[in-house]
Amino acid sequence: MRLSVIGCGYLGAVHAAAMASIGHDVVGIDVDATRIESLSRGEAPFFEPHLDDLLTAGLASGRLRFTTDMAEASGAAVHFLAVGTPQQSGGHAADLTFVDAAVDALVPHLSPGDIVAGKSTVPVGTAARLAAVVARAGASLVWNPEFLREGWAVKDTLEPDRLVVGVGPDGAGVDALREVYSLAVEAGTPFIVMEWPTAELVKVAANAFLATKISFINAMAEIAEVTGADVTQLADAIGYDERIGRRFLGAGIGFGGGCLPKDIRAFAARAEELGRGESIGFLREIDAINLRRRERAVELVVQGLGGSAFDKRVTLLGAAFKPFSDDIRDSPALDVAVRLRGLGAHVTVTDPAALANARRQYPQLTYVDDRDEALRDADCVVLVTEWDLYRRELTPEHTSSLTAGRVVVDGRNGWDAAAWRAAGWTYLGMGRP
Ligand code: UDX
Repeated sequence: MRLSVIGCGYLGAVHAAAMASIGHDVVGIDVDATRIESLSRGEAPFFEPHLDDLLTAGLASGRLRFTTDMAEASGAAVHFLAVGTPQQSGGHAADLTFVDAAVDALVPHLSPGDIVAGKSTVPVGTAARLAAVVARAGASLVWNPEFLREGWAVKDTLEPDRLVVGVGPDGAGVDALREVYSLAVEAGTPFIVMEWPTAELVKVAANAFLATKISFINAMAEIAEVTGADVTQLADAIGYDERIGRRFLGAGIGFGGGCLPKDIRAFAARAEELGRGESIGFLREIDAINLRRRERAVELVVQGLGGSAFDKRVTLLGAAFKPFSDDIRDSPALDVAVRLRGLGAHVTVTDPAALANARRQYPQLTYVDDRDEALRDADCVVLVTEWDLYRRELTPEHTSSLTAGRVVVDGRNGWDAAAWRAAGWTYLGMGRP
């Protein structure tokens, strides 16, 4: 099928490349010329495992190309909207500027019968509004939310847990979407058809649930801290109950990234607009618990350093909001770094993928590419992003050979506390005695 993908960020670039890899003829369109040049060379403009391979193969096959010219969307049967919906500056609601601009730019190039498939995360009610706009060109709109995780985006796109297609009253677009995803559908992926508002809500409900799960265990960590309990053992024990499950019960400095934080805020803001603020008022609490854990990590550093971080050398292992990503949007790791610097610490940050982004956004911090160089002479070491390079490959003994002090704060509960203590370290975890 001929497809266009409008917006070539973490979501759209992967979608375009993945669709080409399963045989579709795809044009990816973005207003950012630098990003388009990079994609056209077969280079992902951000860190995403396996994406470069998919881009190279797609470009070589002739089935994948990238452009800044919206007119090239013309002729595609399905047009995917994959632009960002960031948090509004000065508010909690979603900023729909990019979605509206993309649709306005696309409409002149639509033909009757075309399908516009929204993938961006939007406030419930947006699809119905946009459907009226694309209808002027004789096109129909479906909402096809995307659940990909950064770092696993290629796999999540090609082998999703489920495909959700939200349709309008006439049901238009279902057949086209089933054809786009025929490989996954034939492989048994649930293909669930529903109406627009349900499809829009599925996405935010899923993210709200995941955020709630993380903040739940972090709330238990707060209780563990005043009772001498160990939240990691607690999570293991409750996680054996299949109704609960161990995944996303990792207590630590909490969630960040371009999705969970802004999506729960936008959802709460939308519920308030709809007169149902109280229904998901708990999401404000989820957000607050999450942010408190960053401050808790800072407190642990201060405690470990004997009451003050002033003039102390603190090395943070990690800058990305999670491993296998170079994304620093709302990164808990960098938030902790900035707070420590505010206390007068000499903060050094290292990360295998995210330093270029971090340098741009927080030029006030010191960055060192090499892990061991970053650790040299540190008074305190803080694990904030659980890359294997730190969590699995860094031993207490090796760290001891580099640092000045013997204090570690494990912001991701990723290390074996007993092993660090046995090597002479003061180990401070999140919700662990
Ligand atoms: C998330 C959803 O998982 C995905 O389905 C949706 O499409 C977009 O948002 P992503 O932002 O890539 O994906 O990251 P995810 O793997 O969900 O992690 C989110 C954050 O939660 C990270 O900062 C991670 O470190 C944190 N986290 C995750 C925890 O603190 N504890 C956990 O147990 C799991």
